[in-house]
Amino acid sequence: MCGIVAYIGNRQAAPILMEGLKRLEYRGYDSAGMAAINGGVHVVKAVGRVSVLEEKLESTPGFRGSLGIAHTRWATHGAVTEPNAHPHVDDRHGIALIHNGIIENYASLRTWLEERGHNFVTETDTEVLAMLISELYDGDLEAAVQGALREVTGAYAIAVICEKEPDRLVVARKGSPLMVGVGPSEYIVASDASAIIAHTSRAFTLDDYHVCSISRDGFHTTTIDNTPVTPRVQELELELEQIELGGYEHFMLKEIFEQPKSLRTTLRGRLDQREGRVVLGGVGEFARDLVKSRRFILAAQGTALHAAMIGEYLIEDLAKAPAEVEYASEFRYRNPIIEDGTVMTVVSQSGETADTLAALHEARDRGALTLGVVNVVGSSIARDTDAGVYLRVGPEIGVASTKAFTGQVAVLTMLAMFIARRRFMSAHDSAKLIAAMERIPEQVQTVLNESDHIREVTSRYIDRENWLFLGRGYNYPVALEGALKLKEISYIHAEGMPAAEMKHGPIALINDGMPVVFIATRGAQYDKVLSNIQEVRTRGGRVIAVATEGDKEIRNHAEDVFYVPDCPECLSPMLTVIPLQLLAYHAAVLRGHDVDKPRNLAKSVTVE
Ligand code: G6P
Repeated sequence: MCGIVAYIGNRQAAPILMEGLKRLEYRGYDSAGMAAINGGVHVVKAVGRVSVLEEKLESTPGFRGSLGIAHTRWATHGAVTEPNAHPHVDDRHGIALIHNGIIENYASLRTWLEERGHNFVTETDTEVLAMLISELYDGDLEAAVQGALREVTGAYAIAVICEKEPDRLVVARKGSPLMVGVGPSEYIVASDASAIIAHTSRAFTLDDYHVCSISRDGFHTTTIDNTPVTPRVQELELELEQIELGGYEHFMLKEIFEQPKSLRTTLRGRLDQREGRVVLGGVGEFARDLVKSRRFILAAQGTALHAAMIGEYLIEDLAKAPAEVEYASEFRYRNPIIEDGTVMTVVSQSGETADTLAALHEARDRGALTLGVVNVVGSSIARDTDAGVYLRVGPEIGVASTKAFTGQVAVLTMLAMFIARRRFMSAHDSAKLIAAMERIPEQVQTVLNESDHIREVTSRYIDRENWLFLGRGYNYPVALEGALKLKEISYIHAEGMPAAEMKHGPIALINDGMPVVFIATRGAQYDKVLSNIQEVRTRGGRVIAVATEGDKEIRNHAEDVFYVPDCPECLSPMLTVIPLQLLAYHAAVLRGHDVDKPRNLAKSVTVE
């Protein structure tokens, strides 16, 4: 979602801000803008890509200054127009502000501010915050920001500058991520580390309700009530090359192909085949609670939800414990029942998804033990959970999540095994499963080697507007994920569902030539899936099957087959999803879409 980058130092701000905006493009946005202090406050905004803003800047002579803020906006309140783009400037003091999040009480604040004579030029909630700071400003920007934030409800990460204080950048956060990079006599603030790492590897994450006031000589941090706090400056664990394309055409393709390596990193040091044990340092302290727990709830959104669904099957299948999956957004607004011994596991790549975070808080407040399965180290979810296991897949830039998904499934598999081994699973069975798990990364590579074949098959169906993805058991969440991938980046309508459900309505959609992808690996429900395939073919559907290597029979039932190596059924999602990721990728490229910047999507959805 919205990207924030701000600079104060001795260099020209605009090139640094522009580079930062490009690094943040992957978050998803529809307009962009920048402001700098140079005598007065100067603002440039543009609808569309950051490159459009860049062109405008080049034709704006005199846009100079070593203090500036820049933003990519993902519209929530107010249409995608230039006035609605950030920064927003107040009508009195030359205060400019950028904001990520939503000010929930903006309407009443706006009425109050209008009564005090402020003139609004947009419909946005952000302009209200700029005006509120303006109303409270009496020569001290930090105090005005603190005062304004005491009045607002909602979520925010903000960066504020004022032409009357050319050596001050004030930033604050509640609910939306914000990081301060600390360089020599300069500071770069951004929504994530990718916009900081080119300049400094020392940074700290701002906590909720904290305000940081930065000058060229140093910074200090307080709560919004002006109580001093000391942030912990740390080394960023991020290399520049991890966030660059490295010869690939798109980040999504790079990340798909990184999966053998990223999975090895996820598993490294956590599997002990000799002892038949899984070692998860992040939850070790709570091992007894996990073993005794009566119920597992898993909550997530998007791709992470599909991983969580696999987690549900794994926990029931391996650990023999009751488990259920919830859309975090639904869980949060019901009146969920949390009994003693409930473990809430939230799954999230970014660790910032607003709904997932809210579900976590709801469960925590009702007494559940909370676990995080998260990729971004130090993210809100990572910090707010009692314990957790990091994915360690490295930064994921592609909006369509790929390596995070396989990382999430790998972690949930290990979590299920961790509990299972302490409950019913023998050392022998556990060691066998661990051995199979260790083979998964090289097996993923085998599937990746089929990319050209998958592309060729995809090209034959590329003009089709409706697809179905079907599977049973562990293959059902994979079917959902395959359909989601396809719609996200190729904008083709695709639905995923349990194969048996097809007969209860969706079969009416099947017409001559409709592509139907069956995840049909050899497993408990294989024969039933073959029957479903027949039902589709009888009605003219064209079947593409994801099947187990060596299964010749499937060739008699499907037009095209993508083979995956054999493995225990419970590990198969990490393999069967790979051809579906590649299918979606090739479909989007063949249709000429910008794979890494799909329309309307955001990498991290930080509003509910
Ligand atoms: C957005 C992204 C998805 C992602 C979902 C959950 O919709 O576009 O790719 O699966 O958010 O994100 P999280 O960071 O919580 O995994």
